[in-house]
Amino acid sequence: MALVTTKEMFAKALNKDYAVGAFNVNNMEIIQGIVEAAQEENAPLILQVSAGARKYAKPAYLTKLVEAAMIDTGLDICLHLDHGEDFDICKKCVDDGFTSVMIDGSKHEFEDNIRLTKEVVEYAHAHGVVVEAELGKLAGVEDNINVDARSATFTVPEEAAEFVERTGVDSLAVAIGTSHGAYKFKGTPYLDFERLEAIHKLIPDTPLVLHGASTVLPEFVARCNEYGGNIPGAQGVPEEMILEAVKHGVCKVNIDTDLRLAMTAEIRRHLVEHPEDFDPRKYLGPARDAIKRMVQHKIRNVLNASGQR
Ligand code: G3H
Ligand code: 13P
Ligand code: ZN
Repeated sequence: MALVTTKEMFAKALNKDYAVGAFNVNNMEIIQGIVEAAQEENAPLILQVSAGARKYAKPAYLTKLVEAAMIDTGLDICLHLDHGEDFDICKKCVDDGFTSVMIDGSKHEFEDNIRLTKEVVEYAHAHGVVVEAELGKLAGVEDNINVDARSATFTVPEEAAEFVERTGVDSLAVAIGTSHGAYKFKGTPYLDFERLEAIHKLIPDTPLVLHGASTVLPEFVARCNEYGGNIPGAQGVPEEMILEAVKHGVCKVNIDTDLRLAMTAEIRRHLVEHPEDFDPRKYLGPARDAIKRMVQHKIRNVLNASGQR
């Protein structure tokens, strides 16, 4: 039982039909729901922490909760910084014991992104920590996006190859049409699999990462709306598209929105059905169970990662 990097997990997953789930964590119940699912499914696991999560929970609480999860379950876990925006936050996380950091230089010009990523790679590798970077922009995509707009934001395969070569980064997040949050598509979902295949062909040894990979499960959206929520028209990446992406070099699948929806749906339902309850454990307990069930479903049916630990 230890905090581990993604090196072994990705080496095992690359070019196989499964991927490692990377789940965003913000509090104890979310962490417990996820690790219990991974433990029962015997699946490899990445827990990731965003800058917002660090600000919300305070850094020490999250690292200690993840440590507690390891002690409780005996699992090896990768603790990853999600979307680090500069060198400083990456350095802080390396110094805090994270085993993996993401430097997200995607908003910068190509050369600046390379420079920033290299700086983080140098520091992280010197401390035994692996680095994920991002090339291309994860903008929301509408069904009528034209080809020019697509090439302006999506990852260019030749640039991806040059980027990996020049930065020495361990894994690469690519933009092929996914976006963060609960509103990913208007109309028919579209991911650029041709582009993904081209990237994977040029850098077959580089594990690729799919951000914005929540499926926005209709069951949870409906439950939120049924019990007083207001999230109409939410739409995510269909499960079969994630399975397809996993066949083309995607080793890490990022999921946050589906956790938020599962938790919120259950809390909403509980509070409406039990207006007499005011003990947080009464609704956070079922919310934790809902997260566990949802993550188990992902591991089995979307990531294909059951038994791959
Ligand atoms: O990539 C975004 C993740 O869902 C984290 O979101 O910055 O609100 O914690 P956050
Ligand atoms: P979702 O919003 O689709 O869950 O994406 C999460 C993510 O990419 C975290 O980095
Ligand atoms: Zn992301």
